[in-house]
Amino acid sequence: MNIHVDETLGLFHLQSKDSSYLFQIIEGYPAHLYWGAQLNHDTSLAHIVELRERCSFSPNPVPANRNISLDTLPQEYPQYGTSDFRQPAYQVKLEDGSRITELKYSGYRIAMGKPKLTGLPAVYTEADEEATTLYLELKDDYSGLKVTLLYTVFANHSAITRSTFFEYEGSGSIQLDEAMSASIDFSDSQYEALYLPGAWVRERHIQRRELGSGALRLESRRGSSSHQMNPFLALLRPDATEDVGDVYGFSLVYSGNFVAQAEVEQFGQTRVSIGINPFDFSWQLASGESFQTPEVVMVYSDQGLGGMSRTYHRLYRTRLCSGNHRDEVRPILINNWEATYFNFDADKIEAIAEAASPLGIELFVLDDGWFGKRDNDDSSLGDWFEDRRKLPGGLADLAKRVNDKGMQFGLWVEPEMVSPESELYRQHPDWCLHAEGRRRTEGRSQLVLDLSRKDVCDYLYDTLSAVFSSAPITYVKWDMNRNMTEVTSASASREHQKETAHRYMLGLYDLLERLTTSFPHILFESCSGGGGRFDPGMLYYMPQTWTSDDTDAIERLAIQYGTSIVYPASTMGAHVSNVPNHQVHRITSLTMRGDVAMSGNFGYELDLTALSAEDQALAARQVAQYKEIRSLVQQGDMHRLLSPFEGRGSTAWMFVNEDQTEAFVAFFRVLAEANGPIRRLTLKGLNPNKKYRLESGVAHIPADSTTDAGSETATFTEAFGGQSFGGDQLMRIGLVTSDLQGDFASLTFRLRAVE
Ligand code: DGJ
Repeated sequence: MNIHVDETLGLFHLQSKDSSYLFQIIEGYPAHLYWGAQLNHDTSLAHIVELRERCSFSPNPVPANRNISLDTLPQEYPQYGTSDFRQPAYQVKLEDGSRITELKYSGYRIAMGKPKLTGLPAVYTEADEEATTLYLELKDDYSGLKVTLLYTVFANHSAITRSTFFEYEGSGSIQLDEAMSASIDFSDSQYEALYLPGAWVRERHIQRRELGSGALRLESRRGSSSHQMNPFLALLRPDATEDVGDVYGFSLVYSGNFVAQAEVEQFGQTRVSIGINPFDFSWQLASGESFQTPEVVMVYSDQGLGGMSRTYHRLYRTRLCSGNHRDEVRPILINNWEATYFNFDADKIEAIAEAASPLGIELFVLDDGWFGKRDNDDSSLGDWFEDRRKLPGGLADLAKRVNDKGMQFGLWVEPEMVSPESELYRQHPDWCLHAEGRRRTEGRSQLVLDLSRKDVCDYLYDTLSAVFSSAPITYVKWDMNRNMTEVTSASASREHQKETAHRYMLGLYDLLERLTTSFPHILFESCSGGGGRFDPGMLYYMPQTWTSDDTDAIERLAIQYGTSIVYPASTMGAHVSNVPNHQVHRITSLTMRGDVAMSGNFGYELDLTALSAEDQALAARQVAQYKEIRSLVQQGDMHRLLSPFEGRGSTAWMFVNEDQTEAFVAFFRVLAEANGPIRRLTLKGLNPNKKYRLESGVAHIPADSTTDAGSETATFTEAFGGQSFGGDQLMRIGLVTSDLQGDFASLTFRLRAVE
């Protein structure tokens, strides 16, 4: 990691582990030169950009130099109005109504470590030697607008973070209409875009497509990062695969409206920008005020998508997620949502806990329906006091009954919402987002509290603090079940209304900062109807997310695989639920459901009291198995082996510890094949020179064994037999998987290096 600056040439060379990022000041404009595999530092790098006259339709800011047009110059933070007709990185309206600014280089400074971003979640360092930050200062002399571009390079990750800081030093005020976190111009367009669209119960399904002329725009206008599009975009060389080739990832650390775009212009250059969605956004900056954009985490990999994902996984697991629970293995839980929905009382909860405890389950999570008069989803959000009809002894008594079974107690809340049918709404009807005189559009019979207001956030802090202190609560599931409409704040003046959606996020982040600081022993899991806000912003405060409301094992293969493009398994809540599945009505075996859920933060979400003795015994074995492998899943390196988005839908992945001495492998076959070919699963990430003992699980290894893999009865505790295989053999020849019987079959096993 290093930052080289040649002041005479205006050359800046930023080196992260394995990658280089270069730009140069040309006529005062920061011009992008290169981002990719690491280069040796050399002043000849200053000649990368070829400047040449194009035509009068690409005008020249310096009349005497027709070789320079901002319309063709690759740039670091492009402006609007002075000859660049591509997508600008920012837009402002000045005091006089004009929209023209011209940011020119005015200086730089370099500091060890990485600064906190005021009020915003961000990747952090724990020691200054982990990273170096460059502050590149730009100024528009005419207006008094100052912009600082922040770049942080990392010693241990092939990643660069970027964000932008605006300051206004002119007179009166200006209006910021767009403020991207970063913009970058690639010199050609030979890329494909990969991104993660979806829907409720179908989150983060991978799409990959060619970039053509024109613009690709991925965005959310819903007030949250959304089920529909994750705040992530990757560009890949067309020949890049899971394992090889150049990949460039852009992941925005933000939970609200965002845009990520890639624009291929007339000469085939590609401009990528990402940040807060300018749709329905503006920000007033009076003299002396400033604005900090969220951060984008940019990862380069020459080892394909898998290499990119592992960089994100390590960085997010260790330097984005924070708090006491970051490095701890996560508890195995039982959640009562799909077991009871709203229909429970303390005795029923205790009965489920009683069934869970002997299985080895560690945490009981009481989901929706414990407060106000909430017998369905029509009422009571905002009334965060126990419903004594269901819980006569309150939360404290129920928590004690659960604790007495040897389990921790966790609680569901949905603090950002209010039901019109609630005491809170009757007392404070102006506390929700609404436009005076207009209908208040409901979603699931609820309205969104206006978290842009300090009084609302303070009320929530006090109310939630009281709830979290009222019982020995060690886990909180923080839900959010609708998107924003009538985005207007009763407390904001006319000029500030378009700040509301972003101010909401700042209010939410501040509330989460305060709560997680006050309750460091609580493990928080975020949720938004499953994965509607599965983003790096929320992960900063809450190290795990309920991945999806879809708990069907087969659907989960695609959802968890797609999610793993950016997010580590330690962030994904994954539960075994009942069959027929409640979302898609599919029937899969308990083995299959367990094997899929074990590739995340494992838990159950069904009525354990209704399980047969045989299934209870299997669940106990699953819990024991997960305890053995959970540090591998939650803290190891993930290698994706087979994609559910390709071929016949077979899916496989594995987790390997840092010193390559242990691995956990999971293979899933969706549909059986009639008289098909012999298929082998080749592994990854092992040491080719080590021997590994296949310790348990069920597999068919060619030549050495005839063990049959009848998946319906396959369990982890049926040890394979302890044979050893070379890492090279496992990665080059692999294991035969085509002997599995039936549809929806799974196979898991563990490898341990032997001398
Ligand atoms: C949506 C969540 O994703 C579910 O797990 C459950 O908590 C419900 N909300 C409760 O209303």
